This record gives sequence, C-alpha cells and structure tokens, in this order.
Amino acid sequence: MTITVQALETVMADGWRAVEEDHLGDWLLRASSGFTQRGNSALTVGRPGVPLTAAIDIVEQWYAARSLPARFCLLTDAAGRVTDEPLNDVLSTRGYLPASATLTMIGSCADLPQLTEATAGVDADARLSPEWLAGFAAYRSIVPGPAEAILTGSRSQLFLSIPDTSDAGGRPVATARMSIYPGWAGLHAMWVAPERRREGLATAIVAAVAHLGQEHHMPQVYLQVEHSNEVARAAYRHMGFRDHHGHVYLAKPLGG
Ligand SMILES: CC(C)(COP(=O)(O)OP(=O)(O)OC[C@H]1O[C@@H](n2cnc3c(N)ncnc32)[C@H](O)[C@@H]1OP(=O)(O)O)[C@@H](O)C(=O)NCCC(=O)NCCS
Repeated sequence: MTITVQALETVMADGWRAVEEDHLGDWLLRASSGFTQRGNSALTVGRPGVPLTAAIDIVEQWYAARSLPARFCLLTDAAGRVTDEPLNDVLSTRGYLPASATLTMIGSCADLPQLTEATAGVDADARLSPEWLAGFAAYRSIVPGPAEAILTGSRSQLFLSIPDTSDAGGRPVATARMSIYPGWAGLHAMWVAPERRREGLATAIVAAVAHLGQEHHMPQVYLQVEHSNEVARAAYRHMGFRDHHGHVYLAKPLGG
C-alpha cells in the first residue's frame, strides 16, 4: 500500500478539523482559539496561488485578525527535513523558528496487533462523554468549546477508552480518539495512565482500532507523533506502524 504525502495530508485534514478554516490557494488556514498547533496553523501543502511573500503577509494578517500568532505547518520527510525549502528560507529570514517536529506513521490493520481473548476490553463510543473528556483534560490543557468542536469535528469519530475497573465510573485508564475517513482510520490523543503503562493497554487500543478498521472498510491507520516522543515512537514501531513523512511548525518566538 502506498499513498502520496499530499493524498495522506488530505485524509488527515479531516481527522482534526479546525473550528475555522479558510483556503489560500491549496493552503489551509486553521484557527481554533489557540487549542493545538494543528488547529491553529496554516497547512502549506501545495501552492498558495500568490507569490510567496504575499502569501505569508496574507497568513500573518489572517491570524492577527483573530488575535493569534501566525504559525506555518511545513511538510518534512520522515527524517524531519523540510521539503519546501523556498518557504522555509523566507520564513527563517523573517525570524520564524521551527518547533514540534512531528512524524506521521501508517500501518495496515492486518499487520497491527489483533484482538485476542487476553486483550483488555476497549469501549468505543460515538459520543464524547464527560468521562472521556475528563481523561483527555487530565494530561493536557484544553480550551473548552474549541476542544469539543475539534474532537467531534471529523466526518465521523469514535472515542475509545479502557475503563478503570477498580474505580467504577471514574476516569478511564486509557483513552484514544479514532477518526473515520473512507479507507483510513486516524488514531489521535492516545494516552495511558502513568501507573498503568507497559501493561499492553495502548496495544489493546490499537488492536481495537485495527479490528474496527477491518470491519468498516478502513484497512489503513495513520497517526501523528512528535519526533521527541521516543517512547510513543518505539511503541508504535513495535506495533507495526512505519514512518511516512512529517511536519514542523514555524512561528515567531514570543515577543519576536
Ligand atoms: C506511549 C504510550 C501510549 C504507550 O502505552 P502503553 O500502554 O505503556 O504501551 P504498551 O504497554 O501497549 O506497549 C507496547 C510496546 O511498546 C513499547 N514500549 C512501550 N513503552 C515503552 C517504553 N517506555 N520504552 C520502550 N518501549 C516501550 C514496547 O515494545 C512495548 O511492548 P513490551 O512491553 O512487550 O516490550 C504511553 O507511554 C503514554 O500514554 N504516553 C504518554 C502519552 C503519549 O505520549 N501518547 C502518544 C501520543 S502520539
């Protein structure tokens, strides 16, 4: 199975839809009151349809009008090297700095871990429950409103969780979000409670995604993980995911 970077970016754009989206040529401008870099950055896939410096001016004005810093999302290869050198050069000259280099990994459902009798039970809910959201908010700061809008904003999604059997009704011990797109499942927001790591819970969630994918005509799964997150990268590689390409965010330092 092969998919081009551009085609996969189109799939992934639906997996984490910003609250407000606009187009500048092929570029996708996204704003979500600051909640997540993905939701508040201009995805620079393709051409903006105007000269580069004019395009950067337009993006800067678009974000300034929303009281947000301009942030550009540039594609990289799997090793983290930016592929659009002219854009990278112009942004660097203007004082933009790279941050949060991120890797996109993909896997075939058939090659990922499979459900067995020993796999921990994973709940899948089409509804964003308060318990799932509490688990999500326990390990990252959220912006109420935009967070729920993004989490429920794909054409379809499922909220996966492994309940805490020792504390019925409490926060789940593992959570993830699965976005649904023809042919592709997206795995987002994977998290396992620190005291329950290395018990196979993330593997159980991936097995549930692979099972749902195979049942619902989504034979492939993608995910995004920061290059610096070596534990998660090791875990995903161990489960059968492989590197595809990446992206990096360019923004001006605060006060710059
Ligand atoms: C990454 C994370 C989800 C893994 O969850 P987990 O339930 O501990 O993972 P599993 O127990 O299913 O581990 C599966 C395999 O991944 C690898 N792995 C997991 N944790 C690892 C670690 N700390 N170091 C090296 N390899 C590791 C191992 O190969 C492991 O198999 P093994 O235990 O049989 O050797 C968990 O560490 C986590 O929640 N981290 C913080 C949030 C995060 O980074 N999420 C990912 C965002 S993209």
